[in-house]
Amino acid sequence: MNKFSLNSVDTLRNKKSNSLMYQYTFWYVINLLLVVLLIGITLIVAVSLFLFQDMKNDLTAVQTDLVQIANKQPSNQWEKQIDYLLYPEFTKFNVEMKNTKTGEIAHSQGWEKIITADNSKFHYLTIKNFLIIKDEGLFYKHQASFGQNGKIIIFAKLSVITDFIKLMINILIVTTLLALIFGISFILFITKRNIRPLLSITTAVNEIKSISNLSGGVPVPEKPQELTDLGTSINRLLFQLHLQIEREKGFVSDASHELRTPLAALRGHINLIKRRGKAHPEILEQSLTAIDQESERMQNLIHQLLAMARSEHYELELVDVNMSELVSDVLRTYWKEDRNITLELNIDKDIHLNGDVGQLSQILIILVENAQKYTESDGKVIVELTKNNKEVHLTVKDTGIGIPKEHLDKIFHRFYRVHKDRSRQTGGSGLGLSIAKQLVAFNGGDISVKSEVGKGSEFKVIFKK
Ligand SMILES: Nc1ncnc2c1ncn2[C@@H]1O[C@H](COP(=O)(O)OP(=O)(O)OP(=O)(O)O)[C@@H](O)[C@H]1O
Ligand SMILES: [Mg+2]
Repeated sequence: MNKFSLNSVDTLRNKKSNSLMYQYTFWYVINLLLVVLLIGITLIVAVSLFLFQDMKNDLTAVQTDLVQIANKQPSNQWEKQIDYLLYPEFTKFNVEMKNTKTGEIAHSQGWEKIITADNSKFHYLTIKNFLIIKDEGLFYKHQASFGQNGKIIIFAKLSVITDFIKLMINILIVTTLLALIFGISFILFITKRNIRPLLSITTAVNEIKSISNLSGGVPVPEKPQELTDLGTSINRLLFQLHLQIEREKGFVSDASHELRTPLAALRGHINLIKRRGKAHPEILEQSLTAIDQESERMQNLIHQLLAMARSEHYELELVDVNMSELVSDVLRTYWKEDRNITLELNIDKDIHLNGDVGQLSQILIILVENAQKYTESDGKVIVELTKNNKEVHLTVKDTGIGIPKEHLDKIFHRFYRVHKDRSRQTGGSGLGLSIAKQLVAFNGGDISVKSEVGKGSEFKVIFKK
């Protein structure tokens, strides 16, 4: 067997002993044995002590009677009296009664079974006063004296106690075996039933070979609850991954598509210059201007794509922002004084917000830039900042060209442009609003738009305080 297969056998063994089924069975058996042992020993000790005490009470009573017999009866009557005393109630006792001086001696019936003249035939295993006699069992040896030379020896047979212990051990063995058989079968049944959905989840996850079929998800079992939760969580995760991958796929294909157009234009102009530039210098001038515009457009696009990619991995720095100051500062810096468009500001004082300064500025820049870009000369842009108990409202209105209703829900999509020609002139790539929407969400807000063609548009951002 080579090293690899040895390893895999080891892993297999490990896997088996780590499995839920094995673990449950192992701990069940250990627990069962411990409980049986504890209950068994306690019961055996308690009942044995009780039985022993009972026997000792009998022993004392018998001893008192024996002393009376020894004192009152002539020695030739002793044996008869002893048997009379022991039968039938106290046959567990074997008695020897003797006078060591006169040599008078008497035995209960059956005494010879316990002791004979030839001691070697008998095997004693003695611990204190307890002894085991071959073929007879466990005995308790008690000695007492009477008169000056009288001696009584009593062997009490403890068969009640040993029989009880034997019976208890048998009962415990049988019940333990039954409990093991039923318990283990039950555990195997329950774990198999509960593990089956887990196995099907594992199989389903293993079957996801490529990230393109993430949306399929894994089966969600109805019970047990833990596995229902696990299945739901895995599916939620897979769905999020699926969305993310789809988004990224869309982003890459949109971006390459958008870059393809200006690149094609660039190449077209370069070819034109190559073919006819020398003969027609006026073409050279026109084409260079076009190349300049297209390359600037590409530059802007790449710039925005980078900003967008960065914003997805950007770590938010949420601080208390004075929005009133931020709006004024941003407009002072970014408002372009051209085409005679008026800027009107209605900014309430001291409006604070918890947010990211850079992103909040960026949102305003995008909205104001659009308002200005899509408003004719002599138009007006109004920026408002107000608050109520729960919210801060930032509104950017313009008296521009407006957006047709059917486009309103799409203008926040990446690369979506309503006024393609105009955007082309102004170098717009359709990314501004999608970036703004993302940044607003990052800062816990919501953006909406109202617009009427020819009259103007109103973008409203609502931040929760
Ligand atoms: N204030 C507005 N008035 C009229 N149309 C608007 C206004 N703001 C946006 N739009 C329309 O929505 C489209 C998407 O806007 P967005 O800001 O995302 O892209 P863009 O301005 O074309 O390009 P970019 O902002 O990336 O330079 C625009 O092309 C324009 O057609
Ligand atoms: Mg824009």
